[in-house]
Amino acid sequence: MSRFPILAPLTFGACLALSPLTQAQDEIKLGFIVKKPEQAWFINEQDAATRLGEEKGFEVVRLAGEDGQEVLSAIDNLHSQGAQGFVICPPDVRLGPTIMRRAEQYGMKVVTVDDRFVDADGEPMEAVPHLGMSGYKIGRQVGNAIADEMEARNWDPDDVAALRITNYELPTAKKRTDGATDALLERGFQEDNIFDAPQQNTDTSSAFSAASPIFSQNGDYEHWVIYALNEESVLGGVRASEQYGLTAEDVIGVGINGSGAAFAEFSREKPTGFHGTVAVSSTMHGRQTAQNLYDWVTEGDKPKANTETTGTLMTRENWEAVRDELGL
Ligand code: GLA
Repeated sequence: MSRFPILAPLTFGACLALSPLTQAQDEIKLGFIVKKPEQAWFINEQDAATRLGEEKGFEVVRLAGEDGQEVLSAIDNLHSQGAQGFVICPPDVRLGPTIMRRAEQYGMKVVTVDDRFVDADGEPMEAVPHLGMSGYKIGRQVGNAIADEMEARNWDPDDVAALRITNYELPTAKKRTDGATDALLERGFQEDNIFDAPQQNTDTSSAFSAASPIFSQNGDYEHWVIYALNEESVLGGVRASEQYGLTAEDVIGVGINGSGAAFAEFSREKPTGFHGTVAVSSTMHGRQTAQNLYDWVTEGDKPKANTETTGTLMTRENWEAVRDELGL
């Protein structure tokens, strides 16, 4: 008889101790901040994270962070909503330390996707878990795809110039164009025939502006190949080649991503100079980073420092099959 009143509060106490955890799991809210919210790649990443949240019962707050100020406001906004952390593709990787200071001030967990933070010395911030493309390998796939197509068209390397649209402020971008260049040179491409067009951003319009003068300054080449960090930028180069007067037969552009921008191009009635793209699963990038962050927040499992993903060449011929295979 006398034990009952003692046991009852204990049981009650145990319930109380458990309930905040159970409740917190019910209320998980994670941000997903992207640098280019209008690009198909990032829309798909955010969609995939949102779907995972619906399946697992957590909320994903989709936000844009197109510059440092917007990212910091997004973090403040997430904090005021009670979010426990966020996935981010930053507009500038050098914002890493500033973003982490703000997040730590709020006790939020952070994982990066696509573009990895660098510290003040330009070194990757290893403490922030990252998931992104294996840039160099995927770049090599681009170079080899271009070389294969040059061979298929029987082009003499002496008559072929390369428009290399670069973005050396973004390490993954440099790895990608370096990989493509190395593969091309190994396949006999002439180094002197490579022309650089440094772009200010990672989108089509910045690539178009960078590319246009390159064609007019180098009018004596019969054929052109075009590569860049992503397909949006290659499309900017292809549009500039068209404006200059080059036809699809004289241009081989190969991009990276395999998102809606490429699907639209492959769906055109007539082929363009956009020959192909190395497709990577933006669905997997969005889903996996959200899952990693969720596990970290709910179970305390910190994701591994760096995960590198791979790609598959997609052309006008196979794009629908590859799209389906990658769950895009
Ligand atoms: C960068 C590019 C995007 C996309 C991602 C993929 O962020 O700007 O277009 O290629 O990498 O990792």
